[in-house]
Amino acid sequence: MDWMNRAVAQSGGLHPYIPGKPVEQLLREKGLSHAVKLASNENAYGPSPKAMLAMQQAVSEVHRYPDGDCTELKAALAARHHVETGQILIGNGSNEVLDLLIRCFAGTGDEVVYSQRGFIVYALAAQAAGAIQIAVPDTAELGHDLNAMAAAVTDKTKVVCIANPNNPTGTLLNNDELQIFLDALPRHIVVILDEAYDEFVADIKSDSLQTLKHPGLVVSRTFSKAYGLAGCRVGYAVADASLLAVVNRFREPFNVNNLAQVAALAALDDEAWVMDKVKRVKVQRMRLEIAFSNLGVLGGKSYANFVLLKHAQAAELLNRLEEQGVIPRPLAGYGLSDYLRISVGTEEENNVLLHALETTLAQVKS
Ligand SMILES: Cc1ncc(COP(=O)(O)O)c(C=O)c1O
Repeated sequence: MDWMNRAVAQSGGLHPYIPGKPVEQLLREKGLSHAVKLASNENAYGPSPKAMLAMQQAVSEVHRYPDGDCTELKAALAARHHVETGQILIGNGSNEVLDLLIRCFAGTGDEVVYSQRGFIVYALAAQAAGAIQIAVPDTAELGHDLNAMAAAVTDKTKVVCIANPNNPTGTLLNNDELQIFLDALPRHIVVILDEAYDEFVADIKSDSLQTLKHPGLVVSRTFSKAYGLAGCRVGYAVADASLLAVVNRFREPFNVNNLAQVAALAALDDEAWVMDKVKRVKVQRMRLEIAFSNLGVLGGKSYANFVLLKHAQAAELLNRLEEQGVIPRPLAGYGLSDYLRISVGTEEENNVLLHALETTLAQVKS
């Protein structure tokens, strides 16, 4: 079949993104009745009640297409970030925004530079765009090596991607070092600064949107993490209006659904709720870091809503944790086969995790 051969040839070595294992799948696989998913860095506390109410009220309108321009949400985000509405691009999750940006600015023969342990979607999107992937080795602490990334930029480089804090390593760059990096780049390069976990560091670093300067800088954020709306799929980018006008041509007309738009708008208006949940996540993160450290398995400092576990038999640990109804995220796909990434759960979920971990570590020799 011609079409099949053509599609296979075009996809090259493309592999689909492997998401965290859904609870239902683990229950089926292991014959369990209850499981705790700590694999996708969601907000374990659920969505804001205001967002839930807004969605309930909007349900009767789902026979209508959504506002293709996300007018109200865009206006609210523009006001929040002190920019013009033309400087906001809203996507079906920030994943869509990242994908659109890379597809728009990098094509066959162009280079996309990112960190070896940067968020995997940059590599997937670059590959899907037919671009050359330049994965720069990270630092010994698993962070972005900005000097090496700047050195990797050539006249073929069109896009540079940085996640800050980074997923899956949890590392953080400060804005002074980022500005030095930006100053070292040619002006025409599009720099995607992916701040999916920004709310977790808002108290310890300056707001990139107010401080960083580069003509091609695009800052992306999401409602999937701190705002607890991962299932709605809403994320956005803030950048120069003329840059986003080009990206808009690649966007499908109704990419953000009705319920997602009203939920994000309401969640944005429930700042006290978000701040409370971010605070709780950080308390629980510290609890997990201390516990992991005492158990000798802490994999490094994390600035996001997950913690890294390091153990020589991480694959065996994963298996045994799953048998006890806990779903961590393996990181072998990032070349980190000694690591598991564990999202911060609620206090109760973390009780289950720590109990399972202690039992498992007693069984598995390091
Ligand atoms: C660094 C980073 N960027 C972007 C995303 C995409 O999130 P979403 O598409 O849900 O906004 C994630 C999700 O895990 C992430 O970790």
